[in-house]
Amino acid sequence: PDLFRPERANSRGWDLRHRPTLAAIEEARGAYAHHRWEAAPILAAEAEAGDTEEVRNPARPRDTVGTVTWAAPGTVAAAAEAARTWDATPEERARVLNRAADLYEANYGEIFAILHREAGKSLMDAVAELREAVDFLRYYAARTAGDPPVGTFACISPWNFPLAIFTGQISAALATGNAVLAKPAEQTPLVAWRATQLLHEAGVPRTALQLLPGAGEVGAALTAAPAVGGVAFTGSTETAQVIHRAMAENLAPGAPLIAETGGLNAMIVDSTALPEQAVAAIVESAFQSAGQRCSALRCLYVQEDIAEDFLEMLTGAMDALRIGKPWDLTTDVGPVIDAEAKANIAGYIDAASEAGRVVKTCDTPDQGHFVAPTLIRVKGIADLEREIFGPVLHVATFKADQIDRVIDAVNATGYGLTFGLMTRIDDRVQHVSERIEAGNVYVNRNQIGAIVGSQPFGGEGLSGTGPKAGGPTYLERFRAHPADAPSG
Ligand code: NAD
Ligand code: ALA
Repeated sequence: PDLFRPERANSRGWDLRHRPTLAAIEEARGAYAHHRWEAAPILAAEAEAGDTEEVRNPARPRDTVGTVTWAAPGTVAAAAEAARTWDATPEERARVLNRAADLYEANYGEIFAILHREAGKSLMDAVAELREAVDFLRYYAARTAGDPPVGTFACISPWNFPLAIFTGQISAALATGNAVLAKPAEQTPLVAWRATQLLHEAGVPRTALQLLPGAGEVGAALTAAPAVGGVAFTGSTETAQVIHRAMAENLAPGAPLIAETGGLNAMIVDSTALPEQAVAAIVESAFQSAGQRCSALRCLYVQEDIAEDFLEMLTGAMDALRIGKPWDLTTDVGPVIDAEAKANIAGYIDAASEAGRVVKTCDTPDQGHFVAPTLIRVKGIADLEREIFGPVLHVATFKADQIDRVIDAVNATGYGLTFGLMTRIDDRVQHVSERIEAGNVYVNRNQIGAIVGSQPFGGEGLSGTGPKAGGPTYLERFRAHPADAPSG
């Protein structure tokens, strides 16, 4: 019933087909086209400053977007000591989080500009990202009442949703009255710093929300700080495993870990699927955000009977992709996050090419960290050894009577984040949905872009601990449940 609360409404967003809206966006973000942001720790305690570094634009590396001063090694202890749970009433916490949502929306021009220039987000992605952040704030603001907080939460976020996931974790912890020590990804400190400023401007006390920009070591120090009562983490499965071990060694027994991690996401297209619809959904799922979504499609299974024609349509659609600067209105695919990511993904594509497995690749601009959307032939998902976090799609075929074998192979990866099915057979929808082990199953549409409140998002197995973000049970893990406490 929670999902259908009549008062719930998602952010209206910005309609990019509406000319006056586009003109307003151009003006608002244009003011920040050459701006340089100066991010630094935001603390409720005195602490020594760390080193300062330049932040570069992944699409145009000579463009300095700003600087970041990192949190020095002693900062975690000082911040943990200064942290205080947010003892405002649930109504006041809700008012503040809703005010923050309004401030995020009001500052859309600046936020889009940072997302373009720091994270390489296209305008379409930047709009979706800001909407999701605003949705998280309002969704959790509507659910502030309940059991007391856990205490101090470390919120450790990835660079690929540097505003939405950063905000989602923090707003969940704050809605429930916890104190937050936020550690954004080292690749995207600027947008996190600006968002923290807006949350403080809205009325979140500094003792309830501190920002510690830094690399993995700062995250590691947080997960080893006995004053930390729980951890919300989104990132790779490997890092989640490291954090799990660190928490077991250093934090109180039973300290909650909410981990949302990677995936090896598949889609099945059978011979009854509508090809145009399937091709559009595949291109979006695999290549939007340059494939840098945990939800992105990694392995496509096409029924053998239609494979030849279908792949011709798919490669044709790849030819039509426009790869370029994220702030250009015509861009479909922007850069990957940095030179290291580009080298890793390009190396993978080169190895596939040498093995004669590349079916299709595209042209990219010469400058910047661009990787060509690429289609690679595989026998099945078992050939994918790891999550390639970029615009790389693998394709395999299956025979009409092999659907169950495909499902078994996908389940056997141990991951279980998103799954897509393109079919017109109702019984098959039922059968596959029951058998597939994935957190979010999408039928006859793309498999990215879950909407807060309507499509709670989160994986199974190696893809996450649950509960699902933007869903009715998410906040429960941020609350201390007195009934669960040991008695006597
Ligand atoms: P990552 O695991 O490298 O880093 C994530 C965060 O963890 C960063 O802030 C990083 O500094 C920090 N970190 C690194 N080592 C740490 C340690 N030892 N202790 C504590 N913190 C540490 O991931 P990434 O490259 O930033 O993000 C991409 C990954 O995130 C992909 O695998 C993607 O699938 C996953 N992801 C999952 C979801 C989801 O909702 N399931 C959403 C977005 C991204
Ligand atoms: N919530 C994001 C999506 O669904 C990761 O694409």
